[in-house]
Amino acid sequence: MELDQILRSRSSVRNYDKKKVDPSLLKKIIAAGENSKALYEDITLHFLLLEDGQEAARKMSGYAGYFGKTIEGPHYVAAVTASKKGYLENLGYRMEQLMVTAFQEGLGTCWIEVLHHESKAKALLHIDDPDLLLLALTPIGYPKVGIGEKLVKSIIDEKSARENLYEMLHWGTWNSKKGESDQEPWVSVLEKVRFAPSWANQQPWQFIIDGDTLILAVMREKKDGLNRNRIDGGIIMFYIEAMVRQKGMNGKWVGPKEGVEKKYKIPENYEIIGSFSLNNAFE
Ligand SMILES: Cc1cc2nc3c(=O)[nH]c(=O)nc-3n(C[C@H](O)[C@H](O)[C@H](O)COP(=O)(O)O)c2cc1C
Repeated sequence: MELDQILRSRSSVRNYDKKKVDPSLLKKIIAAGENSKALYEDITLHFLLLEDGQEAARKMSGYAGYFGKTIEGPHYVAAVTASKKGYLENLGYRMEQLMVTAFQEGLGTCWIEVLHHESKAKALLHIDDPDLLLLALTPIGYPKVGIGEKLVKSIIDEKSARENLYEMLHWGTWNSKKGESDQEPWVSVLEKVRFAPSWANQQPWQFIIDGDTLILAVMREKKDGLNRNRIDGGIIMFYIEAMVRQKGMNGKWVGPKEGVEKKYKIPENYEIIGSFSLNNAFE
């Protein structure tokens, strides 16, 4: 299945069949995460299988999921990462690759971040590595609703569920707008990837097109501390890069340089997390 089709048919799964997943398949999914491409190679990140999903969900109750409500799944996967510049984006970028593999194997997943209950969650799940933070989890198993139904639903929901791309697009600098121009290479990429998942479907990303270069900004969080939106940023970075490749082009993400926020006139409640330059013309 092509990536744009995956994006249109995937959705977060919150209802799971009790049926266990074959251990060899679970191993394959974990391997897909462990071998996933990194945004930043120097950041250690691992995916751990929690075989007893019911027990994990019970322990996490009150700490993980919207309003502390966990999702029952036959198994869970936990992501643990070193804390280093760019680690939240790197987590989003890599864990989404694991989730795409799970989807391709007919399995459901649902992002659950535990940024604000990190040490509690780690202790409850007996993850002892002192150098790594437990920041995200996902249940994993067979969806209770058939994939076919999901596909239909996602197509029906498609328009209302995601914001209009042009609301998130800026040309050259922040708030510089222009009319719809689907001939632009970046527009055709972004039209597809805007279906990426995000926390509470907030779609906290904004895009600035500066010639061949795309600049990605995400909303800052009101509270001080970790910006959860950076995980969403990493997720869409993965899809953007994959979509660029699907369209026969190349390029790579680079982290923000000093002073870029000023250059692009980014408002204070947003921050730039990366830029991507195309180095191949569209065919
Ligand atoms: C970082 C992150 C954290 C999320 N946390 C939760 C969560 O705690 N509980 C939940 O039910 N869904 C969670 N979600 C799933 C989003 O609600 C979902 O991706 C969004 O509503 C879009 O729906 P879709 O994934 O079905 O396309 C999370 C998604 C992301 C990316």
